[in-house]
Amino acid sequence: MPPPSVPLSFLAAASIGLIACGVTWIWVRSASAADPHSDPAIAAVHFGVLAALTMGILGATHQFTPVITGRPLRSILLARATFVAWLAAAWALPLGIGFENVAVTATSGCLALLGLVLLAWNLAAPLSVRGKGTPVTALRLALLGAAATTLLGATFVGDRQGNWFVLSAHVDLAMGVLGLYAWLGVTYIGVAQKLWPMFMLAHLPDGRRAGRVAVWGTWLGAAVLAGGLAHGAPSAEWAGAGVLGIGLGAHLALLWAHLRHRRRKADLHLLFVATAAAWLVVAAGLALAGALLLPHHYRLGVDLVTAAMVASGGWLLEALVGHAHKVVPFIVWSLLRSHGGRNGPSGKPLMFADLYHHGWAGATYGTVTTGIAALCAGLGASWTPAIAVGGALLAATGVIAATNLSARPLQLLTAVRTGPVPPAAATSQRPEPAKGST
Ligand code: HEM
Repeated sequence: MPPPSVPLSFLAAASIGLIACGVTWIWVRSASAADPHSDPAIAAVHFGVLAALTMGILGATHQFTPVITGRPLRSILLARATFVAWLAAAWALPLGIGFENVAVTATSGCLALLGLVLLAWNLAAPLSVRGKGTPVTALRLALLGAAATTLLGATFVGDRQGNWFVLSAHVDLAMGVLGLYAWLGVTYIGVAQKLWPMFMLAHLPDGRRAGRVAVWGTWLGAAVLAGGLAHGAPSAEWAGAGVLGIGLGAHLALLWAHLRHRRRKADLHLLFVATAAAWLVVAAGLALAGALLLPHHYRLGVDLVTAAMVASGGWLLEALVGHAHKVVPFIVWSLLRSHGGRNGPSGKPLMFADLYHHGWAGATYGTVTTGIAALCAGLGASWTPAIAVGGALLAATGVIAATNLSARPLQLLTAVRTGPVPPAAATSQRPEPAKGST
């Protein structure tokens, strides 16, 4: 596995990106209610999809690619360079678009292309492994999705220098579908197939076929739908949406099978994962309603499709925040142990559950869920106050999650560094995940 600083830096950046996203939605609430495709709205969208979601998913990619493939990343230095390139791109793009500075926007396109090259170079080594099953296929397809999204993004950025193309809302939507489903979504669908059995203590008799359908269906469906949207071909749009629906349906069926076979009792992680899945169902309903209404009531159709994109992002955000409450304590536990930390705040052996406050974790669930709901309602109904409330709740989520997941580990790390050396014989085995973590 890479050193803890690699995934943790991506995840810390994601929470700061979420704060920026929330603040920007408050700032641009009136402009985005008037026109969800205006530049201020596009800036807020990219703080969400790039600075928050992409940074978080890239953190998971760097952490879990070695676990899933059984091979290390090509280089840790490359991972750090990838972090810097994507972080700079993720902030430069919305700032450039929001403040109408074409030079900054152009720089963001170059940085994103650089980030893509570094990412592909680093991951190509572990992803060339054979015989490791569907999660590896998912990570390979996600890399292709990342390439398609970034190349399209760089083209859009280029267009801003000279208005070469006619970028209709349909064409813009193609990027949203590629980025959210063929890149970030497929990564989550693949990685979840490794994480859910562990976190839910669920071992399915056979989930491999559903897992394959989920990965391939989501990726192919998103690619065909995006192609249809980009070329204005309704038959490809409907065919792609149908295949995407099959893929996402298989993902939900797999979650249901894990829930039925789990041996761990219901906990906050399960609530996050189940709510994330519910956002996917909301997104499908809104997208279908929007597509059917679009020809007759254009503005209402556009608003519903915009709300569907928010719910799609909500699916990934809710899952990311929920999994962060499992994965960050896991990484930090190993870090503390390597520094000689043996005991939690109560003096008992250190457990994953000691590494954050559970009441604040519950509050994070509340803010992120109501934040997504408010933003969905606000953009779906062009309702300015709801957009502002959604932004405030998303910003609060970033602040609470980052503080909650880092405060206790930092306290314990300081205590370990400044306190007496612990007796060598103290508890040395890893905590039993079934008992210690939530
Ligand atoms: C996960 C990745 C991404 C997602 C989900 C995404 C999503 C979107 C969406 C939904 C829109 C339309 C917004 C609207 O009309 O309100 C859009 C537009 C845009 N995106 Fe992205 N994007 C991603 C990555 C990128 C990258 C990497 C770049 C550039 C390097 C980029 C550059 C742009 C530009 C310039 C536009 C505006 C196009 C225009 O002028 O109409 N995006 N994106």
